[in-house]
Amino acid sequence: MTEKFSSAGCIGIFLMSIFLWSSCKNQQKPTAYNKAVIDIDDNNVKPYNPSVFSGFIEHFQDQVYGGIYDPGSPLSDENGFRRDVAEAIRELKIKVVRWPGGCFASGYHWKDGVGKVRKPVPDPVWGITDPNTFGTDEFVKWCRLVGCEPYICTNAGNGTPQEMKEWVEYCNGQSGQYATERKANGNPMPYNIRYWSVGNENWGDHEIGASTPEKWGPLVRESADLMLTVDSTLILAAAATSDKDWTLPLLKAAGEKLKLIAVHGYWLPLWGKNEIPVYADCITRSEEPQKVLNEVIDILKTSGYRGKIKIAFDEWNLRGWHHQGFPRKEPVNPSDTAAIRLIKKRDINKIPCQYTMSDALFSASFLNACLRQSDDVEMTNIAPLVNTRGPLFVYPKGIVKRTTFHTLAMYANLLESNIASTSMTTPDSVRYEKRAIPVVDAIAATDNTKKNWSVVLINRHQEKATTCTVKIGEWLPDGKFDATVLQGDSPDAYNDIDNPDRVKPQNVSILIKNGVVVLPPHSVNIIKLAIKRN
Ligand code: AHR
Repeated sequence: MTEKFSSAGCIGIFLMSIFLWSSCKNQQKPTAYNKAVIDIDDNNVKPYNPSVFSGFIEHFQDQVYGGIYDPGSPLSDENGFRRDVAEAIRELKIKVVRWPGGCFASGYHWKDGVGKVRKPVPDPVWGITDPNTFGTDEFVKWCRLVGCEPYICTNAGNGTPQEMKEWVEYCNGQSGQYATERKANGNPMPYNIRYWSVGNENWGDHEIGASTPEKWGPLVRESADLMLTVDSTLILAAAATSDKDWTLPLLKAAGEKLKLIAVHGYWLPLWGKNEIPVYADCITRSEEPQKVLNEVIDILKTSGYRGKIKIAFDEWNLRGWHHQGFPRKEPVNPSDTAAIRLIKKRDINKIPCQYTMSDALFSASFLNACLRQSDDVEMTNIAPLVNTRGPLFVYPKGIVKRTTFHTLAMYANLLESNIASTSMTTPDSVRYEKRAIPVVDAIAATDNTKKNWSVVLINRHQEKATTCTVKIGEWLPDGKFDATVLQGDSPDAYNDIDNPDRVKPQNVSILIKNGVVVLPPHSVNIIKLAIKRN
């Protein structure tokens, strides 16, 4: 791509970039010229699935109780749902929410959470007692409130395929014992829940349902067969990984029953020991999700299921949740003070200064990777949506939108509905120890007329502004354009209760000269471009 520019052209662009940064308010002096170029192929565009903007909620810490659901709070509605939380989630245009876990699902029996008589039950996984006041009916009602589709992760731990089938009947059945029970509980119409997953992370020893590749495929097949007898239209997923030794046997045994394989990614493993790594350490992990996608796509190709089965990245986040000493497989004894102390240590997840511009930019890079692979990626679920490491921090008196909230909101609200194929040249790198990633990452989305474009440009550099040439077909935009910029006053900027708006998107008019735009350091920029075609 860079060879296309003559040296005279390059000098011209260099001088132009000097002019641009000196005339741009609030932008820092670039100390290096980065010849990033994004070449957008306007003949090669395809729709992506808006379910890439989806979320996950687990019965863990205060994601459900004290998060989305808090009966008795003056901020809650008559159903106990926090109004402020629901409103913020609607702003994210979340399409699908996965529930009730996570690892929690492997010890959860759905029948404990329906009907008039609900008993608190000790949870073997996270060591707490679940009051069961938020169950299937409440989850579906809450999904309707926030305008998303429910996605149920079944218990393939201490549950059975029969229990999964009965859950499907409770939700989607017209007749039968469990459909009748749903009706008696005040819900005459089937919920028609489309998305279901068999199990959670059954490849891992940490899981109650830890399995082997030999056993997992047949169990998924048996469960799927039973669930599909109740409702043949289900979109079924099963717990998978990018490890072919796990996922190929799964596809061989159960692939014809599945529409999705569920994979997870947390790129800073902080479950046991919480650390707050520096910006460069975090940001240089931004290209790792793409590697996972490549591996999973290779598995789909090898199995012959590529095009028939898609990827649900149904838990993702930069930072793994802190839950030292857990998950477990037996309830905690209330006199086990060491365990109680560990449970309390989960409050580490709440420390606000952890959620910085590195999280915001990592999330943007994650979404870029998934949108580029939109032929293969059906859904991605930020994990979690609320509290713990999620984009929305909820406390008794209000909410704080963390930096990642703004990234997700910008993508969901500003991106057009088709993704264009792009090629990138970005010679400069951001480095940390042995890792090096390109300074700029970009995607471009357009509407069906291909006249209106939203171009996402991420400058990952900690302190340097950088230039990028944007080219759509043969068109080099020139002039002032509307843009939304998320930058913060420092790479380590974060929001908290006292300063909830330190990092928030700014609507600006951005100058592009002969295709060249200056990107402020550590920023996500979405530029709206309209091509004037005859
Ligand atoms: O740390 C998040 C928890 O761990 C989720 O329950 C599980 O699915 C994941 O691995």
